[in-house]
Amino acid sequence: MPDNSSRPSNSLGLVNSADFDTAKNYDQNRFASRRMKKLDEFERQFARYVYTLVGDDAAVLDVPCGNGRFYDIFSQAKHVTMADYSENMVKACRERYAIGTNVDLIQADITSLPLVDCSVDLSFCMRLFHHMKTDEIRLAAMKELARVSRKYVALSFYNSHCLRYFRKTLLGKKISGVYIPFMQLLKLADAAGLECVSRRPQLNIVEQQCMVVFKKK
Ligand SMILES: C[S@@+](CC[C@H](N)C(=O)[O-])C[C@H]1O[C@@H](n2cnc3c(N)ncnc32)[C@H](O)[C@@H]1O
Repeated sequence: MPDNSSRPSNSLGLVNSADFDTAKNYDQNRFASRRMKKLDEFERQFARYVYTLVGDDAAVLDVPCGNGRFYDIFSQAKHVTMADYSENMVKACRERYAIGTNVDLIQADITSLPLVDCSVDLSFCMRLFHHMKTDEIRLAAMKELARVSRKYVALSFYNSHCLRYFRKTLLGKKISGVYIPFMQLLKLADAAGLECVSRRPQLNIVEQQCMVVFKKK
């Protein structure tokens, strides 16, 4: 284990510590069970859907890109920026794919992206909001996703209105990830200048994962 005690952490309190092997195998390990394989497919369907909103002529931002789970979908766009705070995730992407000339792969923090205002058609953020502990951080991230986009922002979060969350809370079980109600996310989006276009699923019943498309007001 690397000693990160003296290293600065990013806006989410993450120290840049994922080792290269963990980064390389992130999606294989994370989406190994039957339940997680289904979720992986659900999330990939969502990515394909949001991509159809902007089309091949678009510029897309995928942050955090992790080890490139959505590379095959977004790399069809005219231009893609793939960004992640972890240097090893960025390195894992570079090793995994023959990165096209239409793709910029960069190390960056979601709350301070090195992109100019309105430079992409879609900002896409999968599986990061449930790591954010405060509304202040969520709002900073949303504002930054909105700032760089001229049209859409798509993101996932853990919806607290679902059976899995109620059950865990009731049984006093360990809850990993931060869950919030959809209304709380909508209020933050409003403050970031975004309005909701659609969400998947329409209603969370068992699973917490909720994916939302916003457009700029
Ligand atoms: C759960 S993974 C999701 C990766 C990818 N979106 C996916 O769904 O496969 C979370 C990622 O967020 C990255 N990350 C954590 N804090 C970040 C920050 N402040 N800015 C950008 N990326 C961050 C981590 O390095 C990690 O790769």
